[in-house]
Amino acid sequence: VSEREDIIALCQPRLDGRERDYLLECLDTNWVSSAGPFVGRFEEAVARAAESRWAVAANSGTAALHLALVCAGVRPGDEVVMPALTFIAPANAVRYTGAWPAFVDAEDDYYQMDGDKLADFLESCRRGRDGLPVNPATGRPLKAIMVVHHLGHPTDMEAVGRLAQGHGLTVIEDASEALGARHEGRPVGGLGAMGCFSFNGNKLITSGGGGMLVCGDEGLAQRARHLSTTAKSDPVEFVHDTVGYNYRLTNLAAALGLAQIERLEEKLAAKRRIAARYGEGLAGLHGLRPMAQAPWAESSWWMYTVRIDRGRFGRDSREVLNRLGRLGIQTRPLWQPLNLSPAHAGSYAHKIEKAPLLHSQCLCLPCSAGLTAGEQDRVIEALSGLARA
Ligand SMILES: Cc1ncc(COP(=O)(O)O)c(C=O)c1O
Repeated sequence: VSEREDIIALCQPRLDGRERDYLLECLDTNWVSSAGPFVGRFEEAVARAAESRWAVAANSGTAALHLALVCAGVRPGDEVVMPALTFIAPANAVRYTGAWPAFVDAEDDYYQMDGDKLADFLESCRRGRDGLPVNPATGRPLKAIMVVHHLGHPTDMEAVGRLAQGHGLTVIEDASEALGARHEGRPVGGLGAMGCFSFNGNKLITSGGGGMLVCGDEGLAQRARHLSTTAKSDPVEFVHDTVGYNYRLTNLAAALGLAQIERLEEKLAAKRRIAARYGEGLAGLHGLRPMAQAPWAESSWWMYTVRIDRGRFGRDSREVLNRLGRLGIQTRPLWQPLNLSPAHAGSYAHKIEKAPLLHSQCLCLPCSAGLTAGEQDRVIEALSGLARA
């Protein structure tokens, strides 16, 4: 990476709302920890954004995913179907329950889980005694489908919903990367039985660190909240009815998150503008495919990603990464496909072909909501300069 001072960061937070006022309010009122008014206000704001009835704050997106899986009844020895090409957190959350991920390949239009391959996998399963599918390769029962909406673009939920219903599986959405994205006009996160968001530093909105579970079922929300607060069933006598977790979000973090989500529309507009500009600026480069949006989707364009065909572009994605780095431009590849991850050895993988290719070809470009037109021009010019003449 370059040592120049005008480095263009990949994706950094923009703190241009009421962050300072809200944080000072926490300090002035002494509400800094896991009780305090901002937690509830942040929950309400996220529920509204996801058009969900209930929201339960957690101290990370991973914690929210873990709570969702436990609330869905996922148990040790079960399998949860999920994409192979994704960040490792949702697969880790599956393992925290003692269940196993079953990985499905990516499609190469929008890089989401491939609905046809999901159907192929589910059709290959036999029916267990309770009517749920059993993976013939592992003998493990399937409980849920964990959809991950990558990079701000929705997964095709029409296909997922139909298959889940047909096979009796619960749908959990990991919408960590896709707050504000819509599928057929409806916000992601609120489409499955439960949805989860992350508010870590590189997400569209950040609470410093944090997460949220949303759902339409009051019982599920109460259960998630109970488990997130050490399953304390007697508020005075320290009686805990099961082994719960300390997954609560602090008032400080919620204050930051609330100030951020108040400017969600501005951030989404900035991301759309950045995507449109990249789309135009990169359109003519041979062998470089700009990010696309499905006709049924409104992407939040959280992480702008291009695909580079070495043969036609003249360089592979990692050479481009290194060269841009020397010019002070931060980029990053997609995640190692999880079926190849040592952390998830022993998990089932169903006909994974495209995920490794996408991993080797894709590169995420600078796309902070505060990216200036001048900075974006530098990225576009640098990529044009690297393209085969
Ligand atoms: C798809 C996805 N799921 C889950 C997470 C985990 O969220 P957190 O870092 O808040 O635990 C992230 C990001 O970090 C993510 O990108």
